[in-house]
Amino acid sequence: MGTATTNEEGSVEGGVADGDASGHDHDTEGPAHPWFARLYDPVMRASEAKLFPPHREYLARDLSGDVLDLGAGTGAMLPYYETAIQSGEATITVLEPDPHMRKQAVAEARRLDIDVRVSDARAESLPFPDDSFDVVVASMVFCTIPDPAAALDEVARVLRPGGELRFLEHVAEEGWRRLAQRALAPLWSRFAGGCRLTRRTGDQFSDHAAFTVLDIQRQHLGVFPVRPFVRGTLERRDSIEEFGADPSVRERVREAVDAARSRLERS
Ligand SMILES: C[S@@+](CC[C@H](N)C(=O)[O-])C[C@H]1O[C@@H](n2cnc3c(N)ncnc32)[C@H](O)[C@@H]1O
Repeated sequence: MGTATTNEEGSVEGGVADGDASGHDHDTEGPAHPWFARLYDPVMRASEAKLFPPHREYLARDLSGDVLDLGAGTGAMLPYYETAIQSGEATITVLEPDPHMRKQAVAEARRLDIDVRVSDARAESLPFPDDSFDVVVASMVFCTIPDPAAALDEVARVLRPGGELRFLEHVAEEGWRRLAQRALAPLWSRFAGGCRLTRRTGDQFSDHAAFTVLDIQRQHLGVFPVRPFVRGTLERRDSIEEFGADPSVRERVREAVDAARSRLERS
C-alpha cells in the first residue's frame, strides 16, 4: 500500500489527490474493520446531529495553512473544512489507514466537491517531512491508535513550530465507572474497531515536552462507556530537537518552563 491514491480513492480531477510519498517508511499493516466502518455513521448519526457540532466547529475554527486530519474515519470533519478549503485558506490531508473507512471519507469529499489529499498511512509512522503542517486535527482517534505515544511524537515532528494539535478525545472515567470501563474494555475494543475506553489521553497530551497547552477542557459529553471527553489545543514548541525522548531531559524542560511561567505570572 503506500500513500499513492488508488482508483477507489479517486483522482486529482475528482477533487481527491494522493498523499505525500516523502520517502518516510510506514508500516503497511493497518486496521481493517468492514463492519465497524459500515455501522459507524448510522450509529453516530444522533450524536453527530445533537452533541458534536460545537466541538467539531471548535476543531475547525479559523483554519488556515496545511491541515492534517488524523484518522479521519468516514470524513465526519470534512463538512467543517469546506469553507476554509473553498476560500483557499487551507489545504487538507485526510489520513485514514482503514480502507473501509477511507473509502467513505473519499466519497464524502466527492459529495462536498472539495479537494483533499488522501493518505493511507498510520499515525505512528507519518509519511511526511518534518514541519509539514500548521494544524493537526485528532477527533476520537487517540482511543484507537495502537501506539498513541509514537503517534504523538510523530504529530510533534510534522507540525511546524507554533502549529497546533486540536483534539476531541474520549478518556477514562473516574471511580467505579472507570472499573466498569475496564471490565468492558476487551469486548468493546473487539466490536468498536480497536477503541480503548480507559486511556488518559488528556494527561498524555499535556505531559508531552514538545507542546505547550493552550487550552484543555474536560467535557461531560457522550454516553457511558464512551465518556467523558477532553477537548483542547496544544501548540508545538519552537524547538523540540533538544527535548529528545529521555524522560529526565523532558522533566528538566518541564521544570524550566514551569519556572518561567511562574516568573511571568509574578511579574
Ligand atoms: C472512532 S474513528 C474516528 C473517526 C473520525 N476522526 C471522527 O471524528 O469521526 C477512529 C479512526 O481512527 C482510525 N485509526 C485506527 N488506527 C489508526 C492509526 N494507527 N493511525 C491513524 N488512524 C487510525 C480508524 O481506522 C478510525 O477510522
